[in-house]
Formats: sequence, structure tokens, C-alpha cells
Amino acid sequence: MNVIGTIMRAYAGAADLRAMQELTQRVWSPASLHHVGDLAWGRFMYSPELVDWPIALWEDGGRVVAWGWAHFPDELKLQVDPARSELADDVLAWFDELAGGGVREFDVLDNQVELREAVARHGYERPEDAPYFAYHARSLLDLPKPELPEGFTARAVRGEEDLANRVAVHQRAWNSTRVTAQSYRDVMAAWPYRSELDWVVEAPDGEFVANCHIWYDEGNRVGLIEPVGTAPDFRRCGLSRAVCLAALHALREAGAGMAVVSPRGDEVYPIPQALYRSIGFQSYARTHTYVKKDPA
Ligand SMILES: CC(C)(COP(=O)(O)OP(=O)(O)OC[C@H]1O[C@@H](n2cnc3c(N)ncnc32)[C@H](O)[C@@H]1OP(=O)(O)O)[C@@H](O)C(=O)NCCC(=O)NCCS
Repeated sequence: MNVIGTIMRAYAGAADLRAMQELTQRVWSPASLHHVGDLAWGRFMYSPELVDWPIALWEDGGRVVAWGWAHFPDELKLQVDPARSELADDVLAWFDELAGGGVREFDVLDNQVELREAVARHGYERPEDAPYFAYHARSLLDLPKPELPEGFTARAVRGEEDLANRVAVHQRAWNSTRVTAQSYRDVMAAWPYRSELDWVVEAPDGEFVANCHIWYDEGNRVGLIEPVGTAPDFRRCGLSRAVCLAALHALREAGAGMAVVSPRGDEVYPIPQALYRSIGFQSYARTHTYVKKDPA
């Protein structure tokens, strides 16, 4: 089998992203770093000038068998069809050329053995003290009922009419205005966004105070939680736990069998991991960051 096309662009357009997601969905397993949802979220969460990063797609027979996505200035995301694992070398070479000698880094899951061998071949090293993400999963068979403080309610967003409030709660939870009404509108238009999996908690006065969105990969029957947040004044009241459980019930109704989430696993930012473990998620893999610096 020969690769018959390589496409490179300054950034991923909607059709390119969909082709990348097609590969990610086709080869997804718990040993995968990526899910169709984190590609959509990564592409659309911020306004385009912040995320217009170069991509390269390797195609065979009209479908993508490997992709690289350079999150400038130094980070690479990549996905390679396990049947074409040799293409990892091509993606890494593309990133080397693009980086022009600068520091490069990217994450590999501890169970991606072939990829770890490829990065070692390309001169990457693994610092021991780097932050990492812990991949967690949960079956949807035994979900507890969400419990909210008196007067608070959980519900799915209703599209455009909730957009401003939905963005406001995200901005407050993250203390950042990088997610905007326009960028979130793009998120809502992206595949596979579904408003029935985008949940909020309303305070008694109607203000949105917590949120949980789940990206559903219907082909693999697995949902990815991304993102979750509670406004600072309402933390530690059980709102995130409740909104996640409400969204997980909706995910089960949509037909999923499993949910995954990947919070930080190191001690620098342990709270999200504690939240997900408190609702039954268990860790099954972790990332390792590999770094490459050319000799001076
Ligand atoms: C992480 C975050 C969503 C938690 O929201 P929250 O509404 O305060 O969480 P809950 O009250 O539902 O807490 C559920 C569990 O999470 C854990 N937890 C939450 N806050 C914690 C804290 N400050 N310290 C330790 N554990 C904590 C606990 O296990 C808690 O259960 P318990 O209260 O019975 O001990 C919130 O701190 C936040 O929005 N942070 C910024 C955005 C973010 O990091 N999002 C998550 C990554 S996508």
C-alpha cells in the first residue's frame, strides 16, 4: 500500500478537521490519545487567530491515514492509523521542518508503545518531572442520580437563546475571555456537538453557575467530557458533580456505553481528577511529554 497524497495547510478548515476526525474515530480505542471531541474543541474553542495552526494530512485511497497538527510554537498533536505506523516518522519529520530548530514537544500515552519508539528514534527525550494528563473511563451502567442544592436546577442548553449565558459561565469558571460568543457558536456548529449533551446548572435567579459538555462519538459509543466548570462563588457545593452526572445520564440516553475524561494527573492541579474520581471514573493510562531540543 502506498500513500498517494500529502496535504499541508496553514490551518485546518472544516473539511480537513472532519477528515482528521474520521481517522480518529476509525481507530479509536482506550489506547488512543485523541477523541473526535477534543479535535473539535481544540479547533473551535478559541477565536481563529489563536488556533490557526498548520496541519498535514497523509491520504491513501481517498482517506486520511495519518495527520499532524502543530500547535505553535512548540507542540505537536498527531494520529497515525496503526496499520500504517511507519507514517509516524513522516509526521515527526514534517514537524521538525516546521519548527526550524526550535524546542518541540508532544504527548504520548503510556500504552502507545510504537509511537514511543518512533519519538525516541527522532531524538526526543522524556523529562521526568513534566506535568501529565491521567486518562479516566467510566461505564454508564451504574450512574447515581444527580443531587443539587435546593432551588438549583440542571438542564441542557437550548441553542442560540442560551449562548450568551453559556459563554459567561465558561468565562467565569476559567477566569478567561478566550472562549467568546463567536467561538462557542462555532463549537455548537462543529461535528459532533449536540446541545442535549451540553448541560448547565441554573441558580435560583436563573444565572448559569456550572456546566458540563460531553462530545459523543456514536461510532464507538464513547463520550468525552470536555469542558467542565463552576463559577468561583458556587464552588464546593456539589454543582460540578451534579451537572456531570446529569450530562452522563443524557449520554447514556443517547446510546453510549462509556465516558472518558483526561484531567491533569500530577499534584500541581489535582482538583478536576478528584471531581471525576468522586463520580466513579477510574484511571487507565497517562500521558508522557517528550521534548526535543537541537544541539546549540
Ligand atoms: C474543578 C471544578 C469544576 C470543581 O467544581 P465544583 O462545583 O467546586 O466541584 P464539586 O463541589 O461538585 O465537587 C465534587 C468533588 O470534587 C472534588 N473537589 C472539588 N473541589 C475541590 C477542592 N477545592 N479541593 C479538593 N477536592 C475538590 C471533591 O472530591 C468533591 O467532592 P466532595 O466535596 O464531596 O469532597 C471547579 O473547581 C472549576 O470550575 N475549576 C476551573 C475549571 C476546571 O478546572 N475544570 C475542570 C477541568 S475540564
